[in-house]
Amino acid sequence: MPRAAIIGTGFHVPERVVTNEDLTAWMDTSDEWITQRSGIKERRWLEIGPDGRTVESGAEMGARAARMAIEDAGIEPADIDQIIYATLNPDVFFPGNGVFIEDLLGLKTAGAMDIRNQCTGFVYGLAAADGFIQAGIARTVLVIGGEIQSTALDLSTRGREMAVLFGDGAGAAVVQASDEPGRGVLASVLHSQGRFALDLMLRSPEAVVPGRITPEHLAQGQHHPTMDGSLVFKHAIRRFCEAIDEVLEKGGAAIGDVDLLVPHQANQRITEAVGSRMGLAPEKVFSNIAKYGNTTAATIPIALAEAVREGRLRRGHLVVTVAFGSGFTWGANLIRW
Ligand code: COA
Repeated sequence: MPRAAIIGTGFHVPERVVTNEDLTAWMDTSDEWITQRSGIKERRWLEIGPDGRTVESGAEMGARAARMAIEDAGIEPADIDQIIYATLNPDVFFPGNGVFIEDLLGLKTAGAMDIRNQCTGFVYGLAAADGFIQAGIARTVLVIGGEIQSTALDLSTRGREMAVLFGDGAGAAVVQASDEPGRGVLASVLHSQGRFALDLMLRSPEAVVPGRITPEHLAQGQHHPTMDGSLVFKHAIRRFCEAIDEVLEKGGAAIGDVDLLVPHQANQRITEAVGSRMGLAPEKVFSNIAKYGNTTAATIPIALAEAVREGRLRRGHLVVTVAFGSGFTWGANLIRW
């Protein structure tokens, strides 16, 4: 049975840098609080153009990341037979962003599927790509994680707990059937616990509300994301560690075999706590949250693309990707690069 190997990576982030200091113009916060509590120094937010819309759409960012991954893989866009787009922020309510990618890249009716698994979206997407390839449904899959977070955030002091954490961006991976022994996705584990669904969410617009959103909902800020930060924090550390242990056991590897852990970039304190509980040296744990913040489904593919370009991820390396997020959902992939 063929395995799913990642043969190319790419990413795109907006040009506009928003520093912690910049945020103090909108809300009661400080560089010191944000740096100490999250490790974030700056994030990228899309500019708003004269027409009142972001200068790029989520799908356009995803397409730029995808073009870089396709070039890196040395394939042609026409080789892609399936798109998997992970996002919690599709550009429109429906359809999902995958179909916009099909059009932007001119993929001649390749299959397109969106995954709504928030911060865990890329891990679920990679597991799905592996399944599609092993089942013979697809041979070359483009997995994209991309988000526009900035337009949803409450930039007043009411929304500061969320607003300082999130950024915009997209990352992509070309995943292809490989017969190379031992190469590719070796194992994936996926989990969810819906009883915590309301503890990290964005409620409106809602399908159960006639008209989907009302002036009262807007006044209450239901179109902004909300969370119980400390609850998320505690669950995240526990579930990250469990998922890493589980995926290693499933793939027949030990923590000492891991060359690089690429965790979802939620909070530097979470990343450090997980690295230290797993007994991994800091140089084996990838982090770029200081410059991008949390770009939800995009953090892992952006990190993979940067790790490759920094020479920290090379052919033959054993990599674990792990994520936790809204749902709650969590999971991990074990990959021989
Ligand atoms: N600037 C200044 N103060 C802020 C603030 C901000 N941006 N956001 C919140 N505060 C205040 C709160 O109002 C609260 O004040 P109070 O104590 O007077 O009520 C206080 O800071 C909370 O501080 P603390 O409990 O020390 O925060 P924390 O250590 O739990 O860190 C988070 C807060 C949000 C950074 C942390 O809980 C977290 O990262 N959680 C996970 C979030 C996440 O990753 N979500 C995405 C899913 S993967």
